[in-house]
Amino acid sequence: MKIKLLAAALTATLATAAFMAHAADPVKIGFLVKQAEEPWFQDEWRFAEQAAKEKGFTLVKIGVPNGEKMMAAIDNLAAQKAQGFVICAPDVKLGAAVERQAKRQNLKVMSVDDRLVDGAGKPIASIPHMGISGYEIGRQVGKGLAEEMKARGWKPEEVGALRIAYDQLPTAKERTQGAVDALKEAGFPAANIVDAPQSRTDTESAFNAANIALTKQARFKRWVAFGLNDEAVLGAVRAAEGRGLRADSMIGIGIGGSKTALNEFAKPAATGFYGTVQISPKRHGYETSLLMHQWITANQAPPAVTLTSGNLMTRKNQAELVKAGG
Ligand code: GLA
Repeated sequence: MKIKLLAAALTATLATAAFMAHAADPVKIGFLVKQAEEPWFQDEWRFAEQAAKEKGFTLVKIGVPNGEKMMAAIDNLAAQKAQGFVICAPDVKLGAAVERQAKRQNLKVMSVDDRLVDGAGKPIASIPHMGISGYEIGRQVGKGLAEEMKARGWKPEEVGALRIAYDQLPTAKERTQGAVDALKEAGFPAANIVDAPQSRTDTESAFNAANIALTKQARFKRWVAFGLNDEAVLGAVRAAEGRGLRADSMIGIGIGGSKTALNEFAKPAATGFYGTVQISPKRHGYETSLLMHQWITANQAPPAVTLTSGNLMTRKNQAELVKAGG
C-alpha cells in the first residue's frame, strides 16, 4: 500500500514537473503567409509583431509561396519548439496536409484570410479561421462602382465591367460574386460583365489577364473593374492605361487598403484606381496572434470562424480611415 501511494505521489510529481517544464517553455508562434511581398501580408506581420511584443512571445514569420516550402516551414517551426502557427496557405486545398502535419508535430494551427478546405473542397471546421466576409465586402465594391458610375452620368449599357477572376480560391469567388450581384441589382447589364481569369493573385497576372480581356472587348470605351484584392484591380487599371483609358474612363475598386491602394491615392493626379474596401490587417494579424497565444497558454481555443468587415475608402476619406485602422 505504502509503495503504491509513494508511486502515485511520484507519478503526480513527475507529471507536474513535466507540465511546468512545458509551461515554462517560451511561447513561440509561427505566422506563415502565401505572399510575403504583398503589402497586406506585410501589414499582417507588423500587427502580429505588435501582439508578440505585448505578450512577450517570439513570432516566427515565414513566407510560404508553395506547398513544399509550406511543409518545410511547419517542420522548421516544430524543430524550433514553437507551439502553434497562424497560416494563409498558398493553396487552400492543402488543408488536409496542413492539419495532418500540425497534428504530427504537436502544433496548434489556425488559418487566416484563406480558409482551408479538405479533399472534397469543404472547409475544415476543426481549424479555427479568421477571414473577411467576402460576399458582403464584394457587394460594397459593386455598390461603390454603381454609385460612382451614376455620379459621372455613365450609361450602364455603354460600360464594360471587368471581373479579374481567381475562382479556385473560395474567398476570391465570393468577393467578385458579391460585386457582380450588387452591380446587377443596380441595373447594370449582366452581358457587359467580362471575366478575366488571373493565374496568380498578384498585380502582374491581373495586368496580363486584363490586357487580354480589354483587347477582346475593345467596343467599350468606359470600364469599371473589380477583383479579389487591390493588386488585381491595380493590374486592370495599369492595363487600361496602356490602352489610353485613364481616370476619366476607368473606375476600379479594390479590396485591401494597404500600401498598394495608398500609393495610388498618394499620386498627385487621380488614376483609374478610384477606391478600395479597406479591411483590417490589424484584426487579421494582431488578433489571430493573440488568439493563438491564448490557445497555447490557457488552452482556450479560438472561435471556429470569425468574419471581419470593411469600409469603402477613396481619396476623399483615406486619411481618416488610415488613422482609424492603426
Ligand atoms: C486573400 C488575398 C489577399 C487579401 C486577403 C484578405 O488572401 O489573396 O490579397 O485580400 O485575402 O483576407
